[in-house]
Amino acid sequence: MPSDVKDRKLAPEGKTKIEWSDRRMPVLALIRERFERDRPLEGQRISACLHVTTETANLGRTLKAGGAEVAVCASNPLSTSDEAAASLAEDYGVAVFAVRGASRELYYRHINQALDLEPTITMDDGADLVTTAHTERRELLEHIRGGTEETTTGVIRLRAMADKGDLRYPIIAVNDARTKHLFDNRYGTGQSTVDGILRATNLLFAGSTVVVAGYGWCGRGFAMRARGMGAHVIVTEVDPVRALEAQLDGYRVMTMAEAAPLGDLFVTLTGDIHVIRGENFESMKDGAVVANSGHFNVEIDLDALGEMATSRRVVRPNVEEYELPDGRHIYVLAEGRLVNLAAAEGHPATVMDMSFANQALAAAYLSAKSDALEKLVYAVPREIDDEVAGLKLDALGIKIDVLTKEQVEYLASWHVGT
Ligand code: ADE
Repeated sequence: MPSDVKDRKLAPEGKTKIEWSDRRMPVLALIRERFERDRPLEGQRISACLHVTTETANLGRTLKAGGAEVAVCASNPLSTSDEAAASLAEDYGVAVFAVRGASRELYYRHINQALDLEPTITMDDGADLVTTAHTERRELLEHIRGGTEETTTGVIRLRAMADKGDLRYPIIAVNDARTKHLFDNRYGTGQSTVDGILRATNLLFAGSTVVVAGYGWCGRGFAMRARGMGAHVIVTEVDPVRALEAQLDGYRVMTMAEAAPLGDLFVTLTGDIHVIRGENFESMKDGAVVANSGHFNVEIDLDALGEMATSRRVVRPNVEEYELPDGRHIYVLAEGRLVNLAAAEGHPATVMDMSFANQALAAAYLSAKSDALEKLVYAVPREIDDEVAGLKLDALGIKIDVLTKEQVEYLASWHVGT
């Protein structure tokens, strides 16, 4: 397999870690067994741009088991696990183009190398592969039957493409499945963001003031965990309903301008650009720490901070100190890239199990049904979402009640009232 990974000798270490994750991904393992039998992806070529982690390796194995040829590239320059990448290439027959710390140029070269597979299906996390196919590699578009998208930011970009009539093939928004965002975004991002911040800084959350920008599923997951660790949590929002939810969930809600002088730690999880700007750095305390857990590194205006700073230095791995003219210091984690993957290992396998079960089943769905779809962004079919939840409950040994015949009839009728 043509691949570009840091060091193939890391494969044994990667394989052990992939197997460790696999033990926590029972739904994906079951789908893999089913795929080995039914080969629903026979004849498909899948180019996948995902965070190259041990969990992604287990998805890659599953797609191969379904009969697909698979090429994987990184969806972020700082999120690759080099050992997982090595093992995926060496032990599982997947073409891998991913090196942790890749430059922007290498990052896009890897996307192009994954696209050299001439995919029939794309899988994306942030939409960089889809946008590359729609700009530099338009000759590939006629062969692509459909794609999937893993994350909120990617879905927003792809909906914008579809709205403008620019999207050339159908996309299934895996992020919008309930078995994805209610677990991966909330509990996955919630825990892994704390994990990344702690590994980078060893800060004490208890008693500190944590400002959470964005109260979507990721923001509320992180806010919940920060509060659980004893932090005073402030939420900033632009959506009035979400702001009200945060207020009634018991957080303080205010503007970023009001929060800036109060926070010890700031975390952006919005999917938007420049949520923390120059004027906010102006009023932060000496020693304030800023981190991002949204998909792209645009949420914190680091150019503005760089222009304000008189000097910069790395003080710990993943922690950069910016000194300001008045002597204050601001600390930026993981270059403003998603701190949960850059400074830790991303979401735990237990939640990625459901996200990637949706990915695998959505790919099989595209393989069978893409002809019936238009060049739009689609929800994951409800049957797939429900099936993933059912399989996860089975794996956890949890049984739930089923509606009686009387209840089914009651729900379908309107005559019975007070
Ligand atoms: N996104 C967030 N966490 C992840 C993980 N562990 N693997 C792949 N993608 C992720």
